[in-house]
Amino acid sequence: MSELSPAAPIPFTDLAAMTADIWPAIEADYLACTLGGRYIGGPAVTRFEEAWAAYCGADHAVGVANGTDALELALTALGMGPGDEVIVPANTFIATAAAVVRAGAAPRFADVSDETLLMTPDTLVAAITPRTRAAIVVHLFGQVADMAGLLAAAGQAGLTVIEDAAQAHGGEWDGRRAGSFGEVACFSFYPGKNLGALGDAGAVVTSRPDLADRVRALANHGRSHGAAHYEHDYVGMNSRLDALQAIALTGKLAHLDSWTRRRIELARRYTELLTGTDVRLTAVAALARHVYHLFTVRVPLRDEVRLELAHRGIETGVHYPVPCHLQPPLRRFADGPLPVAEQAAAELLSLPLFPHMTDGQVDLVCEALSDALQLMPVGHEVGGGQW
Ligand SMILES: Cc1ncc(COP(=O)(O)O)c(C=O)c1O
Repeated sequence: MSELSPAAPIPFTDLAAMTADIWPAIEADYLACTLGGRYIGGPAVTRFEEAWAAYCGADHAVGVANGTDALELALTALGMGPGDEVIVPANTFIATAAAVVRAGAAPRFADVSDETLLMTPDTLVAAITPRTRAAIVVHLFGQVADMAGLLAAAGQAGLTVIEDAAQAHGGEWDGRRAGSFGEVACFSFYPGKNLGALGDAGAVVTSRPDLADRVRALANHGRSHGAAHYEHDYVGMNSRLDALQAIALTGKLAHLDSWTRRRIELARRYTELLTGTDVRLTAVAALARHVYHLFTVRVPLRDEVRLELAHRGIETGVHYPVPCHLQPPLRRFADGPLPVAEQAAAELLSLPLFPHMTDGQVDLVCEALSDALQLMPVGHEVGGGQW
């Protein structure tokens, strides 16, 4: 190990530390539920759904099995299907686009801002065709997109807006929370998310009661509210939130704001230390409250830099190495290059950031990163900007 290696490796995240924080508060409920025998639905699920809707500033939350199902259910409940196109940004987790395909519609890929890496009103409008009916806006990395501009552009074109807020629990645009803008919003509570369960979980959030009812029915084998167990109004799916996950999520929700504040502090420290270096930072819009699900930068020779960091005991991530329109099962929906998403995919590097990270660990990551960059051969630049 080099002189700059931290005494202990720095992990990308630390989920066990978050569970340890909440365990004393949920232990009794968790045990009572385990021994009580009510595992699917029930009061623990309703309690979390109500708390989550209120947190987002929406009227309804429907707990489902994961964020991918949340997207598919929302699209189906909105009536998207064969013949319809739904715009998605090219640089997102594949689930955003895969959900569109699974709902029977076609994804239409939009490029993103070179500064924020988010879909903008301009990139949205550029992707519209006569068959486009909706757009999924992804608040990637934890930064809420320009919802005022996107809603205006979508509204002019008659498109329905769905938020993919899987990475942006508690994020805001102009003081309003992620999940409160679109016709419907979809959350993932995958364990690594800012609000994560102890397994897979997700939610659909909306202020439209009809949509909430339809999503709930579709996620429960097509049973409408009040229907008998074997009465089915739709061909639905089985995608429900488990009671034990709801208990864990209720426990974690009590910590979400303080964990988010810590994420923001750590990101500020990274930003101060990396400003003026060869590392390109992702811009944050003045009206956005970025909740830093990921702290993602762009560097030249990313894979080599990443290997150097690994040698120094620093775990990093790449979100995402291949944009969706270039993924083999989705290429048939692509109709041209998307230069910003493609260039960024080669350069993006996610640095460790988690609520229990120390300031000293941020300093060590920055030192190691600068050391790694100095080892790189000269003449490589990161696309698109100020270096
Ligand atoms: C942007 C985005 N959309 C959708 C998903 C899908 O969520 P899940 O893994 O809970 O299915 C994820 C997370 O994995 C995500 O990051």
